Amino acid sequence: MSEVKAVILVGGEGTRLRPLTSSAPKPMVPVLNRPFLEHVFKNLSNHGIRDIVLALCYLPDNIQSYFGNGSDFGINLTYVVEDFPLGTAGAVKNVSDLIDSTFLVLNGDVYTNLDITSMVALHKDRGAKATIALTPVEDPSAYGVVDTDIDGRVKSFIEKPKREDAPSNMINAGTYVLEPDVLKHVEPHTFCMFENYLFPLLLDTGEPVYAYPSDAYWIDIGTPEKYASLNQHLLSGDYEIDSSCNIHHSAKITGAVQFGSNCTVESNVMVEGPTVIGDRCVIKRNSVIKEAIIWPDTIIEEGTRIENSIVGDGCHIGAGACVIDGVVLGGKVVVGSGCKISCNVRVDYGECIDPDTVIE
Ligand code: GDD
Ligand code: MG
Repeated sequence: MSEVKAVILVGGEGTRLRPLTSSAPKPMVPVLNRPFLEHVFKNLSNHGIRDIVLALCYLPDNIQSYFGNGSDFGINLTYVVEDFPLGTAGAVKNVSDLIDSTFLVLNGDVYTNLDITSMVALHKDRGAKATIALTPVEDPSAYGVVDTDIDGRVKSFIEKPKREDAPSNMINAGTYVLEPDVLKHVEPHTFCMFENYLFPLLLDTGEPVYAYPSDAYWIDIGTPEKYASLNQHLLSGDYEIDSSCNIHHSAKITGAVQFGSNCTVESNVMVEGPTVIGDRCVIKRNSVIKEAIIWPDTIIEEGTRIENSIVGDGCHIGAGACVIDGVVLGGKVVVGSGCKISCNVRVDYGECIDPDTVIE
């Protein structure tokens, strides 16, 4: 399998993940205290795929400065940046010089533990030109729906149909195995999409396009809720505390909790999982943190409650504040003491909320 290269598509900013993407581009948002992309690379390496090309619309410096040539992560990473967004298929055409045999394409906003080895084997076994991984979802209307015949050959591909028009709930999971010659249909330096151009064209011209349905774990990190759900899924059952942390003996930590490095937890704090706490966070005495994701460098003053919420990096949460029920705070937010913020409220990067404010 090691000869199979992977191209990962990394496009826009991820507006629906805001305010989290104000601090980090979507591929770099921390999942269990590591950039999202690192988890994607891990699944590829697990299947012997180490040659990875990132096809980017623009190069956020922090991707390259973190991953470099990939050697620290056991992979060989190449970056190709488009002059302007070329679309999903146009972006792959743009890296075609680097490809000379069966290869993989992955949407860069999806995490899955798909069995890539067996997907590539099916592709080769069927003599397919393109094989598309499928996953079941409850509402397919936000995705590409793929209809297949009894042998698993793709019959139609309908991008973002109305719910009532979707022929099934099996959607394009954003992982493809392709033969390089399918790219002959794509003009260089021209915007082109797999979803509403190349896949339908391959079907029209009678090329063998197969589906690889799978019930492997699959999620796209399109929204803060899904981002939180991925963190919870990946947390191991027990708590993990880096030895550099300073945890007071009276603090009570239960369930799946992961602390980054150099955190401080004061007396009588309660931390209940599933919870992830970033590097250098400080949680002062008598605070309760439950089912939360807290990014690095956040300070939580005493007697606060943070529950079922996401707190960006470098925030300051004042004493006695209560942040509960699906709240998302962007980076560098200051929540005044005694505030009560609840009910899925989103607070933008850098905002300051006066003490004792109630936002529902
Ligand atoms: N380099 C590059 N250039 N990448 C791009 C471009 C581009 O012009 N446009 C999109 N991408 C990247 C995105 O960043 C993302 O990683 C991937 O291609 C898919 O684009 P999205 O914008 O996230 O598409 P979507 O989520 O609406 O739908 C796609 O994914 C679904 C699964 O999550 C489609 O492939 C659907 O058919 C599929 O079901
Ligand atoms: Mg997407």
